[in-house]
Amino acid sequence: MDPTLARRNFLRFLAGSPLLAAPVLPSTVAALLAANPEDALAQSYDVLRQGSGKLDADGVIVSPSQAINVFDFEPAAKKALLAQGAPAHFGYLASGVDDDGTLRANREAFSAYAIRVRRLIDARKVDTSVKIFGETWGSPIALAPVSSQGAFNFAERELGVARGARKGGHQMILSTVGNSGVEEVSKEHGSPVWYMLYPTDDFAVTQALVKRAEAAGAPAIVLTVDRQGGRNTETLFRMRRDDNRECTTCHQPGSFAKEVARKPMFTGLDVSRVTNLYGTGMTWDFVKRLRDTVKGKLVLKGIMAHEDATESLRYGVDGLIVSNHGGRAEASGQSTLGVLPEIVGSVKGRVPVLIDGGFRRGTDVYKALALGASAVCVGRPYCWGLAAFGQPGVERVLEILDAEFITIMRQAGATTLAGIDAKTVTPSVGAVRAPLPSDVPGRKYDLAD
Ligand SMILES: Cc1cc2nc3c(=O)[nH]c(=O)nc-3n(C[C@H](O)[C@H](O)[C@H](O)COP(=O)(O)O)c2cc1C
Repeated sequence: MDPTLARRNFLRFLAGSPLLAAPVLPSTVAALLAANPEDALAQSYDVLRQGSGKLDADGVIVSPSQAINVFDFEPAAKKALLAQGAPAHFGYLASGVDDDGTLRANREAFSAYAIRVRRLIDARKVDTSVKIFGETWGSPIALAPVSSQGAFNFAERELGVARGARKGGHQMILSTVGNSGVEEVSKEHGSPVWYMLYPTDDFAVTQALVKRAEAAGAPAIVLTVDRQGGRNTETLFRMRRDDNRECTTCHQPGSFAKEVARKPMFTGLDVSRVTNLYGTGMTWDFVKRLRDTVKGKLVLKGIMAHEDATESLRYGVDGLIVSNHGGRAEASGQSTLGVLPEIVGSVKGRVPVLIDGGFRRGTDVYKALALGASAVCVGRPYCWGLAAFGQPGVERVLEILDAEFITIMRQAGATTLAGIDAKTVTPSVGAVRAPLPSDVPGRKYDLAD
């Protein structure tokens, strides 16, 4: 079938689908596959994996529909940003810390696990929905908070991302230092987004940020705790050398307060006393103070050790995101997937545990869920889509991840997320340090309260 026609049919099908009218974040790919299982496999290749058309002279995709996997978007994003004379912005997106070892560790960890597939199970109908804090998401793949998305696509920024996420029923987390306000992002997303908080060193400012996000209906406030120690983003520094633009177009060097004040979430706030965003001296006392401030759900992002997971629960935290900031905070060499079993083991199903860092394949998502994660987040891939093609790029990245995830669910014989059996992941042959999920307790997917 002609790819354009296939896509049009797909969209027409979606428009008529009763699943689109569902109240919360319905997944388009899951809707397609669930509603028409007999045809779904064929369609998943026609519609979800077109991959056709002429690439450019460098072999880079020129439209989102040409992408065969999400990696195809990275060179397209790089090309787009270099063409705009913004190598520093690509460096900012790509960078890990030091020699990018922790960034690589996140990806390499997935190969430490293999998936034990099961046969002769009718898995034509697949339901990828998950309930987190009482809200049903169409897909367990959410969008991690990424700052300054205007650096990747000035016109569309977080708003194009929100529209792209809405299309596929993906929840998203807005960064404190995004280029858009929480109200406009929630509006474009079609429902309130989660709000990620950098603490700042002025609690009055912190409280005002929380209040504003809560007024916009944010279902959760996510405190990021992994940027306290400073960092060395060498890949960024190298690419910045090649950037000849006047940095003051985007930045206000010299005054942190002025720099922060330019971000929409700080509009109207007195930031004159803010000297840093990341809470350099932050301790559990801060978590207590914030717990007393946040009326709804409080999530900590950046947890990498079971001791901190246990402590979070003592302080009344409602959820965790296992994260090392995409390998761009500490240069520990420790992957997020590698610590997931110990964290899930200590949390014992009491609160949802999300994870991010290097998720690029549906099988990566499957492995994390089988090891006990409630959901996963992706960061760079949707920004590649945004930089290269705007909203359609974001949509396609998420569509591919969903399609791959559904495919491996079927192959593993899981028709729901609750059916993703911990026994279906096993250390790969030769993997040296792959913690076994044997101590992972029964997981809960309906973590409403
Ligand atoms: C350019 C960039 C900016 C980021 N900004 C933030 C941020 O403002 N707040 C935050 O909590 N995490 C931030 N992160 C980390 C992401 O939320 C997420 O942890 C990480 O990107 C996941 O890894 P992945 O990019 O390999 O998918 C950022 C990541 C990138 C790449």
